[in-house]
Amino acid sequence: MSKKEFVVGLDIGTTKICCIVGEVVDRGPYPKIDIVGIGTAPSSGLRKGVVINIEATVESITKAVEESELMAGAEISTVYTGIAGGHIKSFNSTGVVAVKDKEITEQDVQRVIDAAKAVAIPLDRETIHIIPQEYLINDQGGIKDPIGMSGVRLEAKVHIVTGAVSSAQNIIKCANKAGLNVAEICLEPIASSEAVLCQDEKELGVVLVDIGGGTSDIALFKEGAIVHTGVLAIGGNHITNDIAVGLRTPQNEAEKIKIRHGCALTSMVKPDEMIEVAGVGGRKSRVLSRRLLAEIIEPRVEEIFSLIQREIMKSGYQELLSAGVVITGGATLLEGMPELAEFVFEMPVKRGLPQNIGGLRDVVNSPKYATGVGLLKYGARNLAKARFPIREKNIYDKVRGSMRNWIKDLF
Ligand SMILES: Nc1ncnc2c1ncn2[C@@H]1O[C@H](COP(=O)(O)OP(=O)(O)OP(=O)(O)O)[C@@H](O)[C@H]1O
Ligand SMILES: [Mg+2]
Repeated sequence: MSKKEFVVGLDIGTTKICCIVGEVVDRGPYPKIDIVGIGTAPSSGLRKGVVINIEATVESITKAVEESELMAGAEISTVYTGIAGGHIKSFNSTGVVAVKDKEITEQDVQRVIDAAKAVAIPLDRETIHIIPQEYLINDQGGIKDPIGMSGVRLEAKVHIVTGAVSSAQNIIKCANKAGLNVAEICLEPIASSEAVLCQDEKELGVVLVDIGGGTSDIALFKEGAIVHTGVLAIGGNHITNDIAVGLRTPQNEAEKIKIRHGCALTSMVKPDEMIEVAGVGGRKSRVLSRRLLAEIIEPRVEEIFSLIQREIMKSGYQELLSAGVVITGGATLLEGMPELAEFVFEMPVKRGLPQNIGGLRDVVNSPKYATGVGLLKYGARNLAKARFPIREKNIYDKVRGSMRNWIKDLF
C-alpha cells in the first residue's frame, strides 16, 4: 500500500487561527490536493498580524490543530505557516555573473541568485523570500528557466521579502510549543495568491489584496512574476471599532452588527431599512437606520482601499494591471466591498475564493480561508525542499516510540 502524503497549512491570523490538512494526490509544479481536515480557533494572542502573547497563541494553535487532526484522522507534526505585519519590507534586486562554460548550469543560477541577494540587510531583519522574477542572458530578457541555455552573461531579477527576526522567531516558537515543526514560513499575501489567483491573471498583471482582521496584505503580479508585496497594519477590526464607537455599542455586538447588517457602500442600502442595536451597560436596545451603519463603515473601507491604492502606485505598475484587482480575506465578505473597491481603484475588482482544490472544498469556500489554503498549496509545491518532510505517521513508529519510552522509564 502506498503511503499517503499530507501537507498542512497553519494560518496564524489576528482574529482566527486555522489549520488546514491536505492530502497530496499528485505532486508536481501544479500539485493536486484534496482537503481532508480543517480546524479553527479564535485568536487572541496577535495584534496587527504580529504575535504579542505566546501562551494565548499556542493555546489557539493547539485547539485548531487538534480539531483538524480529528477531522483528517491523521497526526500533524509539520506545518507551513505565514507571516505578516507592518515590519515586512520588500524590494526588487538584480545580480549579474559571467557564465563559466558558455552553457548555463544550476550552479550559475545559484551564483546569480546569490549575487542578487547580496544587499545589506540590517541585523534585526531576515530574508523570508528570494523569488526569481526573470533571467536575462546576454541582455535577452523574459527567460524563466535559463538552465541549459547558451550565453556568457547571466542576469537575474529577484523580489526579496524581509521581516523582523523576532517576529519570525515568535511564530516558530509558538508552533514548536504547540508540538509542531515549521517546514517554511511564507509571506501571507503570497500564500493567498497561491489559493485564489490563476496563472492567466498573474501573466496579465493583477493585484491580490487580502484584508483580514488586523492587516491588509498586497501582492502584485506581472508576466507571471511577483513584482511587489506589502503589508499594511489596518483591517476589518478597525471597521468594528468604528461601529462600536459610532453606535455606542460593545465590541462584540459591533462585530455581530457588521457581519449581519454591514454594507461598505451607502448607496446600496435602501433609506427605510432599520436594524436593532444593543445598548452598553444595561441600556435599552435601539432601532437605527441601516444607512447610518453604512455611513460609518464606508469612510473606513474607503481609507483602507486608498492606502492600498497608494501602495499600488508605489510599485509603479498601476497602469499595467490588465486583470485588475482580486480582493480576499474575511473582511471582504462585507456587502458592497467589490463595488467600493472598483470606485477607488478604477479597475475591475472581484472577490477571490480558494480555487483548484479537491476533497472538502465546500468547507474552505470562503475568502477567510485564502491564506490557509494558499499555505497548503505553497507547501505542496515545495515539499521536496522542506526541511522536515511531511508524511502520514506510521502507527508502528508511534507504538515503537512509546515502547522505547516505557523501557527508558523502567530502567
Ligand atoms: N460576513 C462578514 N462580513 C463582514 N466582515 C466579516 C465577515 N466575516 C468575517 N469578517 C471580518 O473579517 C475579519 C477577519 O478576517 P480573516 O479571518 O481573513 O482575518 P485574520 O486572518 O484572522 O487576520 P489577519 O490576516 O489580519 O492577521 C474580521 O475583521 C471580521 O470581522
Ligand atoms: Mg489573514
